[in-house]
Amino acid sequence: MFTEYLKLLLLATGDYVWLDLKTGREFDVPVGAVVKLCDSGQIQVLDDEGQEHWIFPQNATNIKPMHPTSVHGVEDMIRLGDLNEAGILRNLLIRYNEHVIYTYTGSILVAVNPYQLLPIYTPDQIRLYTNRKIGEMPPHIFAIADNCYFNMQRNNKDQCCIISGESGAGKTESTKLILQFLAAISGQHSWIEQQVLEATPILEAFGNAKTIRNDNSSRFGKYIDIHFNKRGAIEGAKIEQYLLEKSRVCRQALDERNYHIFYCMLKGMAPEMKAKLGLGLARDYAYLTTGNCTECDGRDDLADYSSILSAMKVLMFSETENLEISKLLAAILHMGNLRFEARTYDNLDACVVVRSPDLVTAASLMEVEPKDVMVCLTTRTLITRGESVTTPLSVEQGLDVRDAFVKGIYGRLFVWIVDKINAAIYRPPSCESSVIRRSIGLLDIFGFENFVVNSFEQLCINFANENLQQFFVRHVFKLEQEEYNLEDINWQHIEFTDNQDALDMIANKPMNIISLIDEESKFPKGTDATMLYKLNSQHKLNHNYIPPKNSYGTQFGIQHFAGVVHYESRGFLEKNRDSLHTDIIQLVHSSKNKFIKQIFQADVAMFLCGYQQPSTPTPKGVETRKRSPTLSSQFKRSLEMLMRTLSVCQPFFVRCIKPNKSKKPMLFDRELCIRQLRYSGMMETIRIRRAGYPIRYTFGEFVDRYRVLMPGIKPAHLQEDLKGTCQQIVSVRLGKQEDWQIGKTKIFLKDHHDMQLEIERDKAITDKVILIQKSVRGLKARTNFIRLRSAVVFIQKVWRGYMSRKNYHIMKSGFIRLQAVCRSRKYYRSYRITRRRITLIQARCRGFLIRLAFWRRLRAVLTIQAYTRGMIARRLCQRLRAERQRRLEAERQHLAEEEQLRNQMTVRRAKAEAERKHQERLFQLVQQQEEQEREEKEEARRKKELLEQMEREKEQPVDHSDMVDRMFGFLGDSGSLPNQDGQAPAGFEVKMRNESWKTVKNKDKYFF
Ligand SMILES: Nc1ncnc2c1ncn2[C@@H]1O[C@H](COP(=O)(O)OP(=O)(O)OP(=O)(O)O)[C@@H](O)[C@H]1O
Ligand SMILES: [Mg+2]
Repeated sequence: MFTEYLKLLLLATGDYVWLDLKTGREFDVPVGAVVKLCDSGQIQVLDDEGQEHWIFPQNATNIKPMHPTSVHGVEDMIRLGDLNEAGILRNLLIRYNEHVIYTYTGSILVAVNPYQLLPIYTPDQIRLYTNRKIGEMPPHIFAIADNCYFNMQRNNKDQCCIISGESGAGKTESTKLILQFLAAISGQHSWIEQQVLEATPILEAFGNAKTIRNDNSSRFGKYIDIHFNKRGAIEGAKIEQYLLEKSRVCRQALDERNYHIFYCMLKGMAPEMKAKLGLGLARDYAYLTTGNCTECDGRDDLADYSSILSAMKVLMFSETENLEISKLLAAILHMGNLRFEARTYDNLDACVVVRSPDLVTAASLMEVEPKDVMVCLTTRTLITRGESVTTPLSVEQGLDVRDAFVKGIYGRLFVWIVDKINAAIYRPPSCESSVIRRSIGLLDIFGFENFVVNSFEQLCINFANENLQQFFVRHVFKLEQEEYNLEDINWQHIEFTDNQDALDMIANKPMNIISLIDEESKFPKGTDATMLYKLNSQHKLNHNYIPPKNSYGTQFGIQHFAGVVHYESRGFLEKNRDSLHTDIIQLVHSSKNKFIKQIFQADVAMFLCGYQQPSTPTPKGVETRKRSPTLSSQFKRSLEMLMRTLSVCQPFFVRCIKPNKSKKPMLFDRELCIRQLRYSGMMETIRIRRAGYPIRYTFGEFVDRYRVLMPGIKPAHLQEDLKGTCQQIVSVRLGKQEDWQIGKTKIFLKDHHDMQLEIERDKAITDKVILIQKSVRGLKARTNFIRLRSAVVFIQKVWRGYMSRKNYHIMKSGFIRLQAVCRSRKYYRSYRITRRRITLIQARCRGFLIRLAFWRRLRAVLTIQAYTRGMIARRLCQRLRAERQRRLEAERQHLAEEEQLRNQMTVRRAKAEAERKHQERLFQLVQQQEEQEREEKEEARRKKELLEQMEREKEQPVDHSDMVDRMFGFLGDSGSLPNQDGQAPAGFEVKMRNESWKTVKNKDKYFF
């Protein structure tokens, strides 16, 4: 019914969807994606990995709408609408990409290893998380630690925290963080607290090693029980260790190392001490180089060694004990360097240990005879019916014995160290019943794993995880039931099956797998094949058991909670027996070293015990020596104890997830993560929830989320009857017959109810959104139109104004020109008339003036002429008078002389003489007169010449600048005259020239 809806919903760009690529791979789940394009017939989506996909309409079933809670991630994944593997994976991915590594799934904390130091473990963070309820603050390992602590105090109940995950997922780091938090909040820093904290470096040195998956991989499981007094301060702790990987002491895979302690010792030990123990460099020892790796990036073996020594001091390891430990470690290394040579005795394969300094040093460090070591490693003594038979060992067998011995030493040394630590930090509970002691247990244990080849240890590990899973599932189921009870919900019909069947088959029911392996291990003639045969015949009908594919197959499978694991049966019995041969025990017994004897105490005791009752004849030749317990029985026992402890605790679960195999930050391998999620058993929580009512909302949340489906319903904070409103919404929308329930504070829904409600809500919201969009778009369009119109009007107004102004200006200038033309014509006409008149007047005036001047001049000329003539006449008259005078004088003289001469001469002669003299004087007079006339003429000519020269000069052109210079030269040329700066107006110069010219002309005129 909703398929059409779904398709419709998918069509919106930006919607989030689940994309199922259907690759068929085991760990493939739908990936989140966002719709990029959907209007071209096909749908284009971009998935969380950044890949683009085109979905064709016929493949539309590959995509499903994503629940809104999955879009941006939630802090508690139980609230996810898409409560499935894909939803959980995507939620972790989005948060991881934002550097948020912690997420809840109900009460479980999921921690994704960041592979980088995040600033979230500061003292401030510790303060922030102290005394807060889960959910009050964002998910954090500190929140779990805090709840453990305060629940313990409030409820007076022991708490435990089960931290699981695969190798390198961060279990040990999480354990350390919880320990640090507890130490920080539990009160004052005490010595015992320090001792508890210092146990970690020692355990890590002896029990951790570099593997390809983790540079600090714990090769053992541990349960740290921290004890608190009634004031809440740490008063002690107890450490339980499980299943140390002893084989690592002798062999390491490529790029892996032996336990850290060997490398630390060789790097950090004082040279004299090293010389005493005959030690060299790490590369000199076969046991340290099988992985071809002696260095570990990021670890400082030298510094680690000193912190190990100081931690040992804090935990009361004496100097002698330290020395003994070092001696044993050195002996192990020397043993690893022993060389075996093949021999044949009595047609039997045999071997000898090549005498070497390593052999001597190893023997001296263990304080045994080198030849005893040689014998122990090359022969085997069998005791049958009280008789001992010695048989030689082949080279391979010899090497196996040596390795078994070394593993035996290291395994027991590790147990001794843990016991030693416990001796320092464990305080037995007080006998007084009033003194109550509470504890918080931290279980850092290997998670469920499925390798290509799974050995006996893997079966033990997976068996432990199977137990923990059951514990977990029951706890989750219990929590679920508690919630239903609390809410008064009818939960009778919730059915859930856990992994009890698998557990029964492995360890509980008679003839279970572990007991069969155990039985076969105790049976001297038992082999891996006979064991497998028994397993097959006993369990082949069990659906949890997968027999080998054919009669030659050596692998059998078990259906675990997280999937089928195939185990390689070869080597099962040997590993399970975990016993050292009597020769080795005897060698240890012969040692003078008390320490080695101490760590082998139980074995030696059992060996001796076996020898004290040797000769009692036993039927069928069965060896009577007491056997040390098998590995599986030891493990089973310690696991039972652990489960008993856990069962009385209030548990918290931390599931660590490794995001990638390359130990890199910000790299999220989806397949790897989904595999771990499956193995973590977290899906069981989901299954249990799904079996009941997986979706639950508080009334307030429900009303606020779905009130959109019922018009007229007010928000939750304005509601008086929230429960009634919820009921109203749910019965109208889902129907009264549907299987939903209303509790006291919450409403419980099935998955499909949530889907239906979500789709309807989506549709209702979409309708409302469309309405809002419509109105808003209308409003926007109208506003836009009005703005546009007013803009257009404004532009028009401005344009018209501009055009009018422009036309006006054109017209105005036209009129002005017209006016000017008319005026000019008018003026021109009047000017011409005026000019004519003026010219006429001027002509008249000039005529008048000229005539006037003429008459004046004429008069003047006449006057001058008159005067001149008068003057000339007077001068002439004077000259004539003077001439007449002179003539008269000359006459009188003439007469006088004649008279005088008459006296002297005859009258006639006197007269002639007087006449001649008179003529001479007249001649002189005429000459004088002529001379005067010439002078006068000369004077007149000079004057005339002067006049002519002046006339010529007048004709010459006038040089104005010269004239100005001549006139104003005295002023100098320092600058322009005041108020006369700048360029003269146009035409000024012309005017001035004309003016000056006129002036000059007038001057000349007046002058002339
Ligand atoms: N919370 C964290 N912050 C930063 N780095 C971390 C955190 N948790 C784990 N790591 C990194 O991951 C590495 C492996 O973590 P850890 O040793 O705790 O893994 P493990 O689950 O104990 O693995 P194993 O089972 O091999 O012992 C650490 O050495 C550290 O570098
Ligand atoms: Mg670890």
